[in-house]
Amino acid sequence: MALLDHHKILEKNATLLLVFSFLVVTIGGIVQITPLFYIENTIEEVEGVRPYTPLELTGRDIYVREGCYVCHSQMIRPMRDEVERYGHYSLAAESMYDHPFQWGSKRTGPDLARVGGRYSDEWHIDHLNDPRAVVPESIMPAYGFLRTRLIEPTQMAQRLGADIAVGVPYSEEMVAEARADFLAQADPDLDGEGLFERYPGAQQRNFDRQAGVSEMDALIAYLQVLGTMVDFSTFEPDPRR
Ligand code: HEC
Repeated sequence: MALLDHHKILEKNATLLLVFSFLVVTIGGIVQITPLFYIENTIEEVEGVRPYTPLELTGRDIYVREGCYVCHSQMIRPMRDEVERYGHYSLAAESMYDHPFQWGSKRTGPDLARVGGRYSDEWHIDHLNDPRAVVPESIMPAYGFLRTRLIEPTQMAQRLGADIAVGVPYSEEMVAEARADFLAQADPDLDGEGLFERYPGAQQRNFDRQAGVSEMDALIAYLQVLGTMVDFSTFEPDPRR
């Protein structure tokens, strides 16, 4: 009872109540924020997650440039309907090399976080050329022009450098070989050994099925890697987190 009596004093004095409320919120805030200054990283490292190859990174830039994120999210929430439709919920580590991240805020089309490997390259070519040709009720715009725009990778090293500046761990070798890796990934006739060594699991093929490296090559290479880096048959969350 005595405790409640003391509380009455607080409740009847607005200034005192304000001061104590402020104190309580401050303590709560400090408890939440202080640990963040002492732990090295808030993102759990997950096996398989690697920086994008130069070709995938270029495709990602096209994705951002064309505003695909306006209609597509890349974040599967840990709720049953999402997980059943799209696959394992997204891990923070899966977007740790995304600058800027592509979580999105609007789903006019489906989430794309795990679209990699779901369709063939041919399907993507047809779909980007004319979405209504494969999904009659689609309202997605056509992006066929991407296939006619060839890319001359003159600034690949600088492009990786920009990501290094914001913390992506591209090595000196990756930067030196950026142009070669870009060309090798889109042409199965070129030697891809260095590419696979630097970017484990990288897919090498002619994504747009025509000569030269087009913007569609890069975009499909990017779409086909989305959500495929982590092997969820062996993934276990870190029990310390
Ligand atoms: C105006 C909104 C809009 C924009 C912009 C848009 N899309 Fe779509 N997208 C959709 C809709 C709606 C669907 C579902 C129907 C369909 O498959 O076409 C879709 C479907 C897709 C699918 C198939 C996903 C699945 O799981 O079936 C892919 C891949 C895709 N879009 C990629 C892209 C890319 C890449 C871009 C940018 C170059 C883009 N979209 C821009 C609306 C959009």
